[in-house]
Amino acid sequence: MAKEREQWGSKLGFILAAAGSAIGLGNIWRFPTVVGQSGGGIFILIYLIIIFLIGIPLMICELTIGRRGKSNIVRAFKGIKPGSPWWIIGALGVAAGFIILSFYSVIAGWSVAYIFKFLSGGLNNLGVRDSGEVFGSFVASPIEPLIWHGIFMAMTIGIVIFGIDKGIEKASKIMMPILFVLLLLLALRSITLPGAFEGLKWYLTPNLKAINIKIILGALGQVFFSLSLGMGAMMTYGSYLTDDNDIPNSAMLISLADLSIAVLAGFIIIPAVFAFDYEPNAGPSLIFITLPAVFAFLPLGNIFGGLFFSLLTIAALTSAISLLEVPVAYFIEEFKWSRKEASIILGSVIFILGIPSSLSMGILGQTLIFGKGFLDFMDFFSSNLILPIGGLLTALFVGWVWGDRGIFNELEKGRVTFTLKNIWFSIVKYLLPIVLFYILITGLI
Ligand code: PFF
Repeated sequence: MAKEREQWGSKLGFILAAAGSAIGLGNIWRFPTVVGQSGGGIFILIYLIIIFLIGIPLMICELTIGRRGKSNIVRAFKGIKPGSPWWIIGALGVAAGFIILSFYSVIAGWSVAYIFKFLSGGLNNLGVRDSGEVFGSFVASPIEPLIWHGIFMAMTIGIVIFGIDKGIEKASKIMMPILFVLLLLLALRSITLPGAFEGLKWYLTPNLKAINIKIILGALGQVFFSLSLGMGAMMTYGSYLTDDNDIPNSAMLISLADLSIAVLAGFIIIPAVFAFDYEPNAGPSLIFITLPAVFAFLPLGNIFGGLFFSLLTIAALTSAISLLEVPVAYFIEEFKWSRKEASIILGSVIFILGIPSSLSMGILGQTLIFGKGFLDFMDFFSSNLILPIGGLLTALFVGWVWGDRGIFNELEKGRVTFTLKNIWFSIVKYLLPIVLFYILITGLI
C-alpha cells in the first residue's frame, strides 16, 4: 500500500510554518537595505500597493494550486492540465529553490557567525569604521564563512529530514513567537534613542517626487522574495493542506504577518542608523556593519547584538526549510528517494552551489557579472527576474488555462463562499499579467 501523504498537523501550525517561510532574511536583512537605498517612505508606499494588488492574489493562486495538486509542484501542473507544457513553471521553481537557497545560506551563515562574535565580545565597542573592517575581513576570508554556510545548511537539512508536522511545523511553532517578541523589544529600544525621530520621519513620509521605475522594480522583487512567491514554496506548503483550510484568509494572515515583521525590522534599523548619524543607503552590509556599531553604543550591546543575530538566524532557518522542501518534495515523489536521502543529497549540492557566492566576497571579488559580484547577481537575478516571471506564468495559468470554474471549486472547499472571488479572479486574469509584464520589461531595459 502506498504510504499516506504528509499533512499539516493543525491550521495554526500551517499558518506559522507559511509565515515562517515568508519571514526571513528578506524582512530583516533585505527590506531595510532596499528601503535605505530607495529613499524611505516612498518605497514603503509602493511596497504596500504591490503586496495588496499582486502579492496576496498570487499567494491565493499558489496555495490553491498546491492543495489541488497534493503533490510536488511539477506534478501539480501536470495533474491540473495533463499533456500541456505548464509543468515547466514547476520545474523552474525547483531550479529556483537551488539557486536562492545557495546564496541565502551564505548570508544566513554570516548571521550565525555574528551570534558568536557578539557573545564572545569580538564586536565590542566598535565604531562604524572598525566594524566595517571586521565584517570585510570576515567575509573575504576563504574558509571561515564557508564553515558557517555549512553549519547553516546542516541545520536546515536536519529540520527537513523530520518532515512536515514533526520537523517544519514544530520548529515554526516554537521559533516564530520568540522571534516576534525579540523584535518588538529591539524596536522599542531603537525608537527611544535620542535622535531617532529623524529616522522615523524619513522612514514614514513618502516623497512622491522620488518615484521611478527602479524603485518599482525593486519593490516588486522585494514583495516576491519576502512573501516566498514565484517559485512554488507556497504551492509546496499548500500541498500539505487539508480541505477545511480557508485559503484566502490564510493568505491574508501570512502576508500581514510578513509585512508587519518587515516594518518592525525597519523600526529597529532605520531610527538607530539616524540616531547615530550613519548612512541609510549603506547597502547589503547595513545590518552587519552599521548595527554592530549601533549596539556598541547601547548598554548591554553585546547581549542585544547576540539576541538580534540569533533571531535573524531563526527567521532565516524557517525560510530555508521551505526553500529546501520544494526540491526535496520533488525528488521524493518523482525519484522515490527517501526524505532523508533527498534532504542530505540536495542540501549538499546546494552547499556546493553556494561556494562561489561566498568566495565572491573575497578571492572571487573581481569576477563581475553584469557589473555585480556573484552573490549580488544571484540575489538580483532571482528576486527581480526569476520570481516575477514565475508569478507571471502562474497568473496566466490560473487566469487563462485552469479557469474560474476549476479554481473556484478548489478555493471554496474550506469556506462557504469567497465573496471577493470575481474581483480576485479578474485581478489574476488581467491586471497581474499586464502589470508584471510591464514592470519586468521597463525595469529591465
Ligand atoms: N521569504 C524568505 C525571506 O523573506 O527571507 C525568502 C524566500 C523563501 C524566498 C522561500 C523564496 C522562497 F520560495
